[in-house]
Amino acid sequence: MPGAYCFIEYGGPETQQLLERPMPTPGPGQLLVAVRAAGVNPADWKVRSGARRATVPVTFPAVLGREVSGVVTGVGEGVSGFSVGDAVFGATATGFGGYAEYTLTDASSTALKPSAVSFADAAVIPVAIGTAYDALTQLDLRAGSTLLVVGAGGGTGQSMLQLAALRGVSVTGVAGSAKRELVESLGATWVESGQHLLSRIPGTVDAVFDAVGADLSALVTLVTDPKQLISIGNTTGAQELGGSGVTRRRTSEVFTEIAALVAASKVDPHVTARLPLSRAGEALALVESGHSTGKVVIEVS
Ligand SMILES: NC(=O)c1ccc[n+]([C@@H]2O[C@H](COP(=O)([O-])OP(=O)(O)OC[C@H]3O[C@@H](n4cnc5c(N)ncnc54)[C@H](OP(=O)(O)O)[C@@H]3O)[C@@H](O)[C@H]2O)c1
Repeated sequence: MPGAYCFIEYGGPETQQLLERPMPTPGPGQLLVAVRAAGVNPADWKVRSGARRATVPVTFPAVLGREVSGVVTGVGEGVSGFSVGDAVFGATATGFGGYAEYTLTDASSTALKPSAVSFADAAVIPVAIGTAYDALTQLDLRAGSTLLVVGAGGGTGQSMLQLAALRGVSVTGVAGSAKRELVESLGATWVESGQHLLSRIPGTVDAVFDAVGADLSALVTLVTDPKQLISIGNTTGAQELGGSGVTRRRTSEVFTEIAALVAASKVDPHVTARLPLSRAGEALALVESGHSTGKVVIEVS
């Protein structure tokens, strides 16, 4: 049976185990994918902890991870546009995880991988880059607008820096000093994170994209319209202040648009760590530290 990195009950890293799991069978509208790479995200440990049990129901043992790239090895009923042998990437289907040799995706949330995009880069498109892409669409910023990105060196933050710069938006990125070089290399003005953040930010901005979830009541004072505050670190907190979270579009169309940007070298996913499935626990620990730079990927084959 194929291997998969699972958690056997809600809790900490001690609940994680590499297990053998039955080969998944694609249902209507689904694809069976031989995984080549899986993206690692904070949502993975949050689901494992039980914090997401109201919105992400699981059956134990549950396979970790929400996004993959790989090769189609099976096609469910009613699927068009995909064939066995296609290189693809996408979000995993409900009840299936990414840290695995084989998984299922919904064809509607899967896209063909351009040959110019590596499996590792493609695997991190659906969550981090996709979230930044959707947030930027929601903020509807034009060239010359100003944007503050908090958590600028992480997976979503660095994606937002690049996508906003492509639109001609002037970006300020808040991150720890270890991430200064990365933030500046992506065209943003770096501001050090930490206490009394507002004292280091001159004036107001047209929008704030927050990937951390702290100090929202201070951050909202930087925008004229509170709707221009988006927080993915604390969606409820942003909503209480008149802002919002991100409305995600996990569609083949959106994923294809982003992959074209990566293929054209307009967006670099910044995969900074690649670990094999046998070291999936270490990969997740890097992200669970809360201070990772760029993206962490599990390479499966
Ligand atoms: N709603 C959605 O659809 C959605 C999608 C993706 C992610 N999320 C959520 O968004 C958050 C960020 O995700 P991610 O993938 O970007 O995480 P990540 O890759 O782990 O990056 C987190 C970043 O936050 C920075 N950070 C931590 N504390 C900070 C502070 N006080 N000020 C400034 N930066 C700080 C860290 O850098 P330093 O080391 O410099 O502190 C790190 O670079 C997570 O809570 C995740 O669950 C939500």
